[in-house]
Amino acid sequence: MESSWTFVETTLPYVPLPPNSQRQPIKTKRLVIRPIQENDLQSYHELRSQPEAMTGTTRGTPDRNMDESRAAMSDFLSPKDNKRFLFGVFFTSTGELIGEGGVHNLESSSCGWPEIGYKFRKEFWRQGYATEFLKAFLEAWWSLPRFHVKRLVCSSSIHRTKDSESDTTEQVYAYTDVNNVGSRKVLEKLGFAQFSEWTEPDTQEHRIGQPVMLVGYCLSKKQDVIETSEFR
Ligand SMILES: CC(C)(COP(=O)(O)OP(=O)(O)OC[C@H]1O[C@@H](n2cnc3c(N)ncnc32)[C@H](O)[C@@H]1OP(=O)(O)O)[C@@H](O)C(=O)NCCC(=O)NCCS
Repeated sequence: MESSWTFVETTLPYVPLPPNSQRQPIKTKRLVIRPIQENDLQSYHELRSQPEAMTGTTRGTPDRNMDESRAAMSDFLSPKDNKRFLFGVFFTSTGELIGEGGVHNLESSSCGWPEIGYKFRKEFWRQGYATEFLKAFLEAWWSLPRFHVKRLVCSSSIHRTKDSESDTTEQVYAYTDVNNVGSRKVLEKLGFAQFSEWTEPDTQEHRIGQPVMLVGYCLSKKQDVIETSEFR
């Protein structure tokens, strides 16, 4: 993680975010992206029971039981939906849950920007679903109403806007293991640019304490939709 941080003037979505009850399903060619509901618990648990799907998580191991999945699922539900923009990813054709993702943290501890994550069931990897999800998700994310804020962010993520020295282009952030080729390709296909690389002790249970190399990616918001000029 970078040691140099800077206060910037930028934009971010209004908080509280729109609650799940006000989020319309996002439809793509093959997918429906909608808030996860309590009755999705069984399929959510099946996703989180796959060791492969859990490789990118902080703990790195599958849930041991339904209670662990229920606890993880609470991040998707009210009242936590006011600070998270998370969705389930379902096949349009069958309604089956194949993945999940979105912004799970509005202020990443590793760079200050909102942070994206995602995971998909292993049997559906390498068929373009994560890319299809993230592209549609980002359109919804950038469409949220925004306001101007001051925010502490890591210095290397900063993009200045053309016409102002003090205004910084809003970013969305993701980080991944340097060896997670699939995740890096998804990010790069959507226009994310790598801006950092660091090594830290792994948090994953099977590698705890061992050095892991991580890479940080940012994507800039297009500068056409800034709706207020109020600073927090
Ligand atoms: C990372 C992950 C979401 C990718 O999902 P996916 O649906 O397979 O991604 P896509 O099919 O959209 O793939 C995008 C590109 O990456 C490539 N790709 C995907 N997985 C790959 C892999 N393991 N090795 C090499 N390339 C890979 C695809 O072929 C595709 O490339 P192309 O467009 O040139 O053909 C999925 O592997 C996953 O859920 N992993 C476990 C959780 C995880 O690591 N999440 C990210 C945490 S940061």
